[in-house]
Amino acid sequence: MASLTLRINNKDYPMEVDPQMPLLWAIRDFAQLTGTKFGCGISQCGACTVHIDGEPVRSCVTPVSGATGKSITTIEGLSADNDHPVQQAWQEEQVPQCGYCQSGQIMTAAALLRKHPQPSEEQVSAYMSPIICRCGTYVRIKKAVSKAIEINQKA
Ligand code: FES
Ligand code: FES
Repeated sequence: MASLTLRINNKDYPMEVDPQMPLLWAIRDFAQLTGTKFGCGISQCGACTVHIDGEPVRSCVTPVSGATGKSITTIEGLSADNDHPVQQAWQEEQVPQCGYCQSGQIMTAAALLRKHPQPSEEQVSAYMSPIICRCGTYVRIKKAVSKAIEINQKA
């Protein structure tokens, strides 16, 4: 056990935890931010994707020790009013079905736009293809990412 503090969505969360504990547990159980989901637990599905210093990471396989002293962003902290270009596009295209994978999808798309404001099809595919949606919303995800790119360009 160790005393450490995680900075999540610009707020400090002190906790006594095993430094090897997955970041996902800290986010959900200690910070009570349950928008980030547990899917596979082995870095295969992307449901647990959050940002660390703006980079998308799979929090189910990232130890809390790898996130201390860094800035963690979850779906709850992506924007103040759900008005991030990706969130706007997701609402316009009504992407979610069950919704379970969607925070991972949105956080991944947001990381893509941050790094590549005008991504190529290959870049979109490289970012988005590894995130699994059991409901098969891939067509709407693709449309929404295109719309998010448009919104992002106008912003
Ligand atoms: S829960 Fe982390 S990748 Fe599936
Ligand atoms: S919307 Fe149901 S798993 Fe993606």
